[in-house]
Amino acid sequence: VKRSEGLKTACIGCGVIGASWAAAFVKAGHTVRLFDPAQSALNQALAEINVVIKGATGGDAKPGQGTAIGRVFVAASIEEAVRDADYVQESIVEDVDVKRRLFKQLDEFAPSSAVLASSTSEIQPSRFLEDLAGRDRCLVAHPISPPHLIPLVELCGSPWTTGMVIERAAAFLRGIGSEPIILRREIPGFILNRLQMALIREAMGLIDTGICSAADVDKVVRLGLGRRWAILGPFEAGHLNSRLGYSDYIMKFRDSMSSLFRALSVQNDIDLRLINRIDQELRLRVPLSKISEQQTQRDIRLSKLGEHLSTSIAVDHRDEAT
Ligand SMILES: NC(=O)c1ccc[n+]([C@@H]2O[C@H](COP(=O)([O-])OP(=O)(O)OC[C@H]3O[C@@H](n4cnc5c(N)ncnc54)[C@H](O)[C@@H]3O)[C@@H](O)[C@H]2O)c1
Repeated sequence: VKRSEGLKTACIGCGVIGASWAAAFVKAGHTVRLFDPAQSALNQALAEINVVIKGATGGDAKPGQGTAIGRVFVAASIEEAVRDADYVQESIVEDVDVKRRLFKQLDEFAPSSAVLASSTSEIQPSRFLEDLAGRDRCLVAHPISPPHLIPLVELCGSPWTTGMVIERAAAFLRGIGSEPIILRREIPGFILNRLQMALIREAMGLIDTGICSAADVDKVVRLGLGRRWAILGPFEAGHLNSRLGYSDYIMKFRDSMSSLFRALSVQNDIDLRLINRIDQELRLRVPLSKISEQQTQRDIRLSKLGEHLSTSIAVDHRDEAT
């Protein structure tokens, strides 16, 4: 990946994540080839990409015509999608065997100079790359949904991924406005989902034992932790919670912290009766017919939050800007 714009990219799998990646790539000036075996997924992806770039195109152009949407192409096969690609992003079903088969095709059809990235949320890359001839140019680029609006991307190589490939992927992603972090070695769930699952496991325990509702948990995160975590991570927040910094803060709360650690849920199974209860509660709050409208609202608010935070982050985290 040599230049910062005008590259040839491919998005393989155009569901929720693939469509959002494609929108981010095309908005940054790249060409995107889409491949998905489901025509309905492609139609929906094109509609979503159009919404994201509408400002740039000034209307509902068709793929292959004029301006930004003109850099979006639908490919009839995986080979056609990737054969001259600089950067390929896989976002297909979360299944290690299906990913293994797909990466074999990507490795076969994409030019040897192309970077091949997977959006997997949880799977260690070595599990689907081990037997691949070109495994040194493959890695995970795990996004947060929707990646065209949330900047963090977790980059995780397998033991065979070269440092140069990770750097090229990071440079490409910075060029589309993402903020990649690089894991030092692979681990299931990477960082974000391990943190997220720790919180969700505890939240399910609280609901299951009747302490609170799903709505209460959503409120605690939205109005409490999320407010703080949108500008400070948990360690920075702790550091600022004491005039003498982090160690002082921990020493004040050390005993209560360790007794809470011991009290946290260690339930490892997902209880489907509990999931059904939470689902019923959520459907009362947001009926299924309103999900699409609520997704649009979410995206508008995420976009405004991003605009606001981009100025404050530049000041607060200026040492991370490189
Ligand atoms: N949804 C999220 O919040 C989220 C967040 C981060 C990462 N991810 C990861 O992104 C990937 C995609 O997730 P999603 O939520 O977009 O799923 P999705 O079900 O919305 O979309 C998957 C798409 O892949 C297509 N597909 C299936 N097999 C294919 C194949 N062999 N070749 C080409 N296309 C194929 C399907 O037709 C479908 O359109 C998964 O690996 C997931 O773990 C998801």
